[in-house]
Amino acid sequence: MATINNEIYNEVANTWWEEDGFMAVLRTSINPPRFEYFRKALTEHIKLDPKNLKVLDVGCGGGLLSEQFAAIGCDVTGIDCSLPSLNAAIAHANKAGLNIRYMESKGESLLFKDAQFDIVCCCDVLEHVDNFDLIIAEISRVLKPGGVFFFDTINRTFMSNLLAIKAAQDWPLTRFLPRNVHVWDKFIKPSELAASMRKYRLLNAGFVGLSPANNPLMSLLAIMQLKLGKINFAELGSKLKLKESKNLSIAYMGFSIRSI
Ligand SMILES: C[S@@+](CC[C@H](N)C(=O)[O-])C[C@H]1O[C@@H](n2cnc3c(N)ncnc32)[C@H](O)[C@@H]1O
Repeated sequence: MATINNEIYNEVANTWWEEDGFMAVLRTSINPPRFEYFRKALTEHIKLDPKNLKVLDVGCGGGLLSEQFAAIGCDVTGIDCSLPSLNAAIAHANKAGLNIRYMESKGESLLFKDAQFDIVCCCDVLEHVDNFDLIIAEISRVLKPGGVFFFDTINRTFMSNLLAIKAAQDWPLTRFLPRNVHVWDKFIKPSELAASMRKYRLLNAGFVGLSPANNPLMSLLAIMQLKLGKINFAELGSKLKLKESKNLSIAYMGFSIRSI
C-alpha cells in the first residue's frame, strides 16, 4: 500500500485560506455543501439552537469548518496534529474576529474529559489515519449523551479510485493534487464506519452522498483551465462543486447521536 502523505498539512499550511493553493478546493468544493447539510440537520432535524453549543472539530486543519460553526454562534474548539495548520487557523480566526480555541492534539487521544461536547465533527480526516476506530472511540467518549457527531469521508469503491486517485492524483493530463494526499486502501466503506459507530454507542442517523454537481465534461474543462493558468484553485473548487445526493459511491457524510 502507498504511504499517505500527512506531512503535506505541515508543508502547505500557509495556503489553507489562499485562493491559489490546492487546499482551496476543500474550501470551495466540499465545505459549503457539507456545512449546509450539518446546519440543516442541527436546526431542522435535531431542532437544536446552535447558540453556545460546545463544538469540537477533530482534525480541524486551517479551521474551515470550525469557522462555520463559530459563525452560527457555537463555542468551538479545534484540534489537529499539524502545528503549522493550527497556526494558520489561529491567524485566520483572529483576522475574522472569531473566538475559537485551537489546540494541538491527536484524534486518537483527545485531551478532554468525558462528556464535554454537544457536537463533535470530524471531516476529511478518518481516511487519513491508521486506525479510524480509535478516533471514533474518542469522539464518543467526549460527546455528551444525546450529543451529535458530524462526519464526512471517502468511500472505498471503483468510482472513488477513478476520481479521487487516478484522475485527481495520478494521470498526468488530469491530476491537480499532489500524490498520496489520499491512498485508496485507507478509504472507508459506509458499512465499516457504521460498525465502528455502533460499537461506541453512536446511533447512525444515516448517510448521504457528496457527489459532483456538474457533469464530467465541465469538470474536465475546469481542470484544463487550471492547468493553462486561466483559473485558480478556488475557482476550480467552485467548478468541481459537490452536492448532497443519494449516491454514496464517491464521498459521503452524515451524523449520529451519542446514546446514553
Ligand atoms: C484533509 S485535512 C481536513 C481538515 C478539516 N477537517 C477540513 O475538512 O477542512 C486533514 C486534517 O487532518 C489532520 N490529521 C491527520 N491525522 C490526524 C490525527 N491522527 N489527529 C488529528 N488530526 C489529524 C491533518 O493534519 C489535516 O489538518
